[in-house]
Amino acid sequence: MSVRILALVGSLRAGSHNRQLAEAAVKHAPEGVEITLYEGLAEVPFYNEDIDVEGALPEAAARLRTTAAASDALLLFSPEYNGTIPAVLKNAIDWMSRPYGAGALVGKPVAVVGTSLGQYGGVWAQDEARKAAGIAGASVLDDAKLSIPGSVNRFADAHPADDSEVVEGLTRVVRQLTEAGAAA
Ligand code: FNR
Repeated sequence: MSVRILALVGSLRAGSHNRQLAEAAVKHAPEGVEITLYEGLAEVPFYNEDIDVEGALPEAAARLRTTAAASDALLLFSPEYNGTIPAVLKNAIDWMSRPYGAGALVGKPVAVVGTSLGQYGGVWAQDEARKAAGIAGASVLDDAKLSIPGSVNRFADAHPADDSEVVEGLTRVVRQLTEAGAAA
């Protein structure tokens, strides 16, 4: 049986380089690993405890929780916005962190990678994503990292799936995540 990895992308724009990174991970997934790019984060409302109750739970949030819970591991792709994690990804983590102690992230292996325009490739945002996922109960792989700087220039003409250095880095992270996902 294959290991199922759910990919969440913290940028909603159509031309997102982080989305392209996720596409590269899907395309180059090792045998026995199934990576699914999650569609629908834009539809998930801002987290609100008033609607996180039976009868009021938004369908988009419920679907995110169910899909994450059914996955063996999560791979988060994050750009950096103003030195930290984009709201869309933080919102997804918040929804997956509840019910407290029993959220979809509890015990789930999680790795965070990404690319950003700046010279550090969004490390602040990716560190924050690791921190938030860990506090939400995930089993975060702190040594499975990939931060690619200068996104706009680096991927101006070449899709990440065709960049051998990027594919090598992604494959390393996916293998680490797969081992953790198979053992979880
Ligand atoms: C940015 N960008 C950015 N880059 C960076 O390295 N550090 C930062 O703090 C920020 N801050 C920031 C804030 C906002 C609101 C935007 C829209 C952008 C630039 C960002 O890295 C660039 O737009 C990436 O290309 C975004 O990732 P996607 O959309 O290509 O996946």
